[in-house]
Amino acid sequence: MKIVVTAGPTREHLDPVRFLSNPSTGRMGFAVARAAARRGHDVTLVTGPVAANLRVPVGVMRVDVVSAREMYAAVRTAVQGADALIATAAVADWRPAVCAVCKLKKTAMSGVLKLVRNPDILKKVNVPLKVGFAAETNDVLDEASRKCREKGLAFIVANDVTQKGCGFGTATNRVTFVFPEGRQVALPMMSKQCVAQRIVRQLEQIKKSQGKPLASER
Ligand code: CTP
Repeated sequence: MKIVVTAGPTREHLDPVRFLSNPSTGRMGFAVARAAARRGHDVTLVTGPVAANLRVPVGVMRVDVVSAREMYAAVRTAVQGADALIATAAVADWRPAVCAVCKLKKTAMSGVLKLVRNPDILKKVNVPLKVGFAAETNDVLDEASRKCREKGLAFIVANDVTQKGCGFGTATNRVTFVFPEGRQVALPMMSKQCVAQRIVRQLEQIKKSQGKPLASER
């Protein structure tokens, strides 16, 4: 399959030296890209700013972006002829309405920051199979289920980021796969690399059960 993976945070600048972001490290996305490449898939990894020690997995094409709008543009290009999009990125939903060209002086700031909505990449992009992530702090499975339906996903990977060993920056995760018809598969705590393998295998199974030709065969 041709698979596009998004990873990491996005940064939404208000001036050249300040931005809104979140603590995503990109670890889960890099693990998914590695797992998919190891299983022989053609993988493009569109990543926000992540630590330099996260190495691009062998055989994976890496595209670096900073903001949500840049990620959206890169994903739209990458998904041309793709079979699947696996969206692990922690995309900032809002950005400052204006990004100043020069560093803002504190005396020039009012204390109120006007924000505008970013595009929902996963929802808007057109690709046969979409897989999302839902990192939640409450009503985890209900929220994941809502997002799965609203974004038209094959399944969503839900995790409770308040649990020990789960979420941002950890090496492990405990996730539940939630399907659009309501079915749920809870996995035990495991390394992010193992979670990534399970996601890729689940995707392969869905693709196989659909019996549709691969993008490369169309
Ligand atoms: N996502 C995306 N583009 C966005 C926001 C989210 O592609 N602008 C993707 C994420 O990569 C993830 C899924 O959508 O796979 C769910 O993201 P999440 O932040 O949990 O959900 P939101 O849609 O932002 O909803 P809410 O703010 O209500 O939690």
